[in-house]
Amino acid sequence: MRIGDPTPRRMGDLSQSGCKKAVLLKPPVTRRELIIGAAAVPAAAALGGGVAAARARVPFGAAANHHVLPTDQPYRAALARHCDVLVAESCMKWEIIRARRETYDYTHADALVAFAKTNALAVRGHTLVWCEANPDWVKTLATAREADHELSRHIERTVSRYRGTITSWDVVNEPIAEKPLSDKDLRPGQWPTLLGPRYIDTAFKLAASVDPTGQRVLNEYGIEGTSARDRLKRAAFRRLILDLKDRGVAINAVGLQAHLDGAIDVDVDGIAKFCAEMASLGLAVLVTELDVNDMMLPANHAERDALVAKRTRDFLGAVFAGCRPDLVCTWGLTDRYTWVPTYFKRRDGDKNRPLPLDADLKPKPMLDAIQHFCRGA
Ligand code: G3I
Repeated sequence: MRIGDPTPRRMGDLSQSGCKKAVLLKPPVTRRELIIGAAAVPAAAALGGGVAAARARVPFGAAANHHVLPTDQPYRAALARHCDVLVAESCMKWEIIRARRETYDYTHADALVAFAKTNALAVRGHTLVWCEANPDWVKTLATAREADHELSRHIERTVSRYRGTITSWDVVNEPIAEKPLSDKDLRPGQWPTLLGPRYIDTAFKLAASVDPTGQRVLNEYGIEGTSARDRLKRAAFRRLILDLKDRGVAINAVGLQAHLDGAIDVDVDGIAKFCAEMASLGLAVLVTELDVNDMMLPANHAERDALVAKRTRDFLGAVFAGCRPDLVCTWGLTDRYTWVPTYFKRRDGDKNRPLPLDADLKPKPMLDAIQHFCRGA
């Protein structure tokens, strides 16, 4: 059930919006090179079809849980078997790395990177700045100077530590208000309170100064559905991206988290249009955190899994209609480890089934749906 053949891969980077990298590509010889070559097809070529684009593969990745990675051997094997790319579900966030203000703890992040290297997987970084998952001491920062100092040293140290290994970072995560009232509504939090909305510009500038060739992603959730909230949030996300581009901010990619709701339709036309517009602006598009909330779906597993796969197909169909994404990444690989029940436990007491593999690591129809798109079918 792997995406692609099992030929050896070298640690490679995720492409940026591929055209820049195309000149560096040799004819693909390893699976990883094949994947980078695939992502290097410019969006316009992908839209126009063509033999190369039709055959191209899009890398598949999953968020890895650092709590269980060292000990759950079958889980490790499943990650190595199914993924091209890993992203840290939590261990690269401030709450882990910066639990204490004066120290940096990269123990778990290093372990994840080492595991990925051993298995020839690429790694994405998540996340350099977010208004959540921060240690309590961040709330004690009192001035713009202090905030700027902490943000700068965190980004400089973290990006430079993994430079050459992590070539794609979620630089700013979830910048838009949870339920925006207008398309200008940014998310409140300690960083915007102390630094103003320009905290976003600063973060991108810092990341670019440390690793100018890296992929720098603005990542957002709640923009995929047909609800009024999702549509307004997408409009706010779009507006922010256009403003950043106008201001010359060093953003070169956007991430659609895609925490889809099994009970709410995907805005297929809206997503396709959004992705096509991003590609036309020269921005790479990544699906960064795909999963399907099955809280309201039927109890029967086969029926539920089919609906989860359908929602996945609807969404990826829309994305691929608009552009060729650089990555499709799910937020976890297996129902064994998922954040979904933290907020969306089922009323019938059954376990959630939001991911491509079930809790026994068996592939579900959602994996087929992803492979259909990632393999360029
Ligand atoms: O740090 C403590 C650790 O010391 C302790 O051993 C452990 C025991 O439960 O808890 C640890 O903190 C937890 C942390 O994950 C690290 O695993 C937090 O309680 C828990 O709230 C936290 O949840 C994560 C959440 O982000 C906040 O960081 C979820 O696992 C993770 O799936 C979720 O991921 C987010 C993305 O980053 C952004 N998009 C939405 C997505 C889902 O909410």
